[in-house]
Amino acid sequence: MTQDELKQKVAEAALEYVKGYSILGIGTGSTTRLFINCLADIKNNIEGTVSSSNASTEQLKKLGIPVLELNDVGTLDVYVDGADEINPQKQLIKGGGAALTREKIIAGASRKFICIADDTKYVDVLGKFPLPVEVIPMARSFVARELVKLGGQPVWRENCVTDNGGQILDVWNLSILNPLETEQVINNIPGVITVGIFAMRPADVVLLGGADGVRRIN
Ligand code: 5RP
Repeated sequence: MTQDELKQKVAEAALEYVKGYSILGIGTGSTTRLFINCLADIKNNIEGTVSSSNASTEQLKKLGIPVLELNDVGTLDVYVDGADEINPQKQLIKGGGAALTREKIIAGASRKFICIADDTKYVDVLGKFPLPVEVIPMARSFVARELVKLGGQPVWRENCVTDNGGQILDVWNLSILNPLETEQVINNIPGVITVGIFAMRPADVVLLGGADGVRRIN
């Protein structure tokens, strides 16, 4: 099975977890994109969604699924999103699609975070995938120097401006043995908008698509 077929399987499996909820948080990326397509089938049961990116918003609107402002809806029951890496504690690296800030906000504002991914994303230790860090543009070089002090090798994702007007540094070669601590340390560097470690607010349920079907990690 191809990686795209595994993503399709897991996107379909996630539908089970949103039944009965009328307002959904929606992530960003190719797996979420497939999930949004699946939502079209049940759109009459969805009062609205809160979207984590302009790209997801556009797709939702094209399918006739309403998009609401987080400020207008309060706490969400459920949020569905992909990830770039997932460890056994359901801590994640996210931000490959540059939407990490809004993703982290919506994850924080949701009671349940369902993470959907193909099983190539499952790792013992986070950090093989370069860690995305969104920064205020004028702080980029300063933040990069601070990340070097932490042992990483930051690379500016050129030509990428986030939906918030931020820039992205992808940090290579950080072995993230203590995701909670690393998330907080990088968060505290002045100029950092968001670090792509989701450890303070990990996923609640991970659905992993593999050759043998969809595995659920609680
Ligand atoms: C976007 C993300 C995505 O969830 C992550 O990059 C996974 O994407 P994909 O489903 O395309 O593999 O964090 O900012």
